Amino acid sequence: MMVPLKRRKRDVSGETHDAIKYPHVVIFLLERRMGSSRRAFLTRLGRSKGFHVEESFSTVVTHVVSEGNSGGEVQEWLDTQAPRRQTHRPLHLLDISWFTDSMGASRPVDIEDRHMLEVPTLPICDAREQTVSPYACQRRTPLQHHNSILIDALEVLAENAQFHESEGRSLAFRKAGSVLKALPLDVQSMEDLRGVPCLGEHSQRVIKEILKYGVSREVKAVLESERYQVLKVLTSVFGVGVKTADRWFREGVRTPGELVTSGRRLTREQEAGVRHYKHLSIPVTRAEARAIERIVKEAVLAVLPGVQLTLTGGFRRGKQTGHDVDFLITHPEEGKEEGLLPKVISWLESQDLLLYNKMNENSYGEAKELHSRPVSSMDRFERCFSIFRLDQPASGTQQPGASSAGEAQGSAPLGGQGACEPRGWKAVRVDLVVTPISQFAFALLGWTGSQHFERELRRWAGQEKQMSLNSHALFDRRQKKFLPASSEEEIFTHLGLDYIPPSERNA
Ligand code: CTP
Ligand code: MN
Ligand code: MN
Repeated sequence: MMVPLKRRKRDVSGETHDAIKYPHVVIFLLERRMGSSRRAFLTRLGRSKGFHVEESFSTVVTHVVSEGNSGGEVQEWLDTQAPRRQTHRPLHLLDISWFTDSMGASRPVDIEDRHMLEVPTLPICDAREQTVSPYACQRRTPLQHHNSILIDALEVLAENAQFHESEGRSLAFRKAGSVLKALPLDVQSMEDLRGVPCLGEHSQRVIKEILKYGVSREVKAVLESERYQVLKVLTSVFGVGVKTADRWFREGVRTPGELVTSGRRLTREQEAGVRHYKHLSIPVTRAEARAIERIVKEAVLAVLPGVQLTLTGGFRRGKQTGHDVDFLITHPEEGKEEGLLPKVISWLESQDLLLYNKMNENSYGEAKELHSRPVSSMDRFERCFSIFRLDQPASGTQQPGASSAGEAQGSAPLGGQGACEPRGWKAVRVDLVVTPISQFAFALLGWTGSQHFERELRRWAGQEKQMSLNSHALFDRRQKKFLPASSEEEIFTHLGLDYIPPSERNA
């Protein structure tokens, strides 16, 4: 096993180095679960056989070898390592079996399937080597992403286009922003974007300018424009859309507060939106979402035992905050869920937990339009857009939301009617959706989002599969039949898509 001395070299530190026989294979042994002494032994063994075994991980490494780790664990470790963008060589994530086989053969053996670790997410790669799908529902989009500066800029332009009711332009910017969210690297030059789809000419121009000068003049101008600023604030009021906000802007309204003082006629929804504006503009935390979940659970179970409650929306995708809390309500026995919502609302009202609610007992119109024939069973769909009154933990450290927002709001939420209540409270937007169990998987997929991911799923279904998808069903237009599913995985399979977990639907 010893290598003849004359083939060894000594470097200045006095460390011996064996001659490298296979320069194209650069091994890094992961210490995790292997232990340092076994790693040191294997390192010596490999080097004695002429293998290049690196002490630390760097971009020269081509083969990462680990023992007792899953591909996901190795990938996770890899994600914490230094920038990957310089890695142009393919990186193999291998099980120890490849290393021992190679030691046995005294040469790097061909990599076989059994040597490779299965990596659940995107393997390490450069955008240039990777094919990025033009459909967001074929991409994995984690919550944390690179390129925020570029993405934020494109989203400002998307929003501004929406404020001008240019839906097509808005969607083009959204698609561009979304594709950047799925890239595993910091884009530093246009070269990094070669082969990346969904980047229109205008988006590319903006990206190029930001890469070169740090800012885009167009985005800067939008951000500074009064119209954009005012529409952004007005459309953030619950119940206010672009058309209304635009009319108010042209009539001189600049802040939500002025809507009250000017005595404008508001819908019941808008009136609640203005009244609770300050609370509703503070992001809802995960802890608050959990607290609301406990309340809703108590309510639904009080009304009907066996009801199943599921947190959906952004929180299901792993977001730490949200603009609201979204729930799906169902019952394992089909039909039992009928008529549930009015009772749940009554229960919540009796406990003084609702500041606003609007029930929608029949929203299946859209389903009828989307699919080629009406579906009678869908008429039972119920949902409620509401505002909860969430008690804040007892004083001491007062909740920033409850105090500052409370004072500024006409109806003095802090302390409620009597102003002598010991605890503060916060207004929180909550969406409750009731679905029969047979449609649950579709509702879950449809309400988990993101909005862009949903839009892309429907685009994929329609354009690539001649199918219609909504939150209630999947219809195959060629076979002229509905494709049932009892899980999200089954729907992805019907659509011919790889399953994407909620945490990677942040498109
Ligand atoms: N949704 C829907 N019909 C509506 C409103 C919303 O199908 N009338 C869907 C959206 O497509 C989205 C999901 O419900 O997929 C959640 O919507 P929303 O609460 O607006 O967004 P979130 O992704 O939860 O973001 P946030 O955390 O800001 O609430
Ligand atoms: Mn939400
Ligand atoms: Mn919602």
